[in-house]
Amino acid sequence: MSKPSNSAHVSDRRSFLGKITGLIAAFVAAVVGVATGKYALYPAFRKMSEEQNWQVVCPLEDIPEHEPVKRSVVISQDAGWGRFNSQRLIWILRDGSRVVVFSATCPHLGCTVNAASNGFMCPCHGSAWTGDGQRLGGPTLRALDTLDHRIEEGVLKVKYEFFKQSIAEKEIIS
Ligand code: FES
Repeated sequence: MSKPSNSAHVSDRRSFLGKITGLIAAFVAAVVGVATGKYALYPAFRKMSEEQNWQVVCPLEDIPEHEPVKRSVVISQDAGWGRFNSQRLIWILRDGSRVVVFSATCPHLGCTVNAASNGFMCPCHGSAWTGDGQRLGGPTLRALDTLDHRIEEGVLKVKYEFFKQSIAEKEIIS
């Protein structure tokens, strides 16, 4: 039996190294392609996620008029590698088709604001607001935080946002 020649051995090794190099090049091209594609498609993804910021509340006609109505919305947030859902409370005031939506999160330190006989109040430190959300007293430095809303085909949708606490001006943090 004849042994493989030295040049055949070298040729095999070159062919093996060539395949490995090809695989590495293909891998690098794939990574670069994915990264480039992500940037190219980013506006489309961003548009989709902006639309996801709007939460369906309920049909407008289900909201009684002339009294504060508490509802909840489920929001999705990115945290690290995951996306998590959480429930948030809102207050809705309705007069016909005129609607005002408040976050039920106290602008002082974040407790849940309740309805009261003369408007709204926070059970934690006693902040109080009028029925249309204006500050009456307590440690809060501002009015209740209003939320953007829209009515689509008779359905109330809200854009839930978070605001900085304990400052006089409403400032969005996310
Ligand atoms: S958290 Fe509402 S008054 Fe302090």
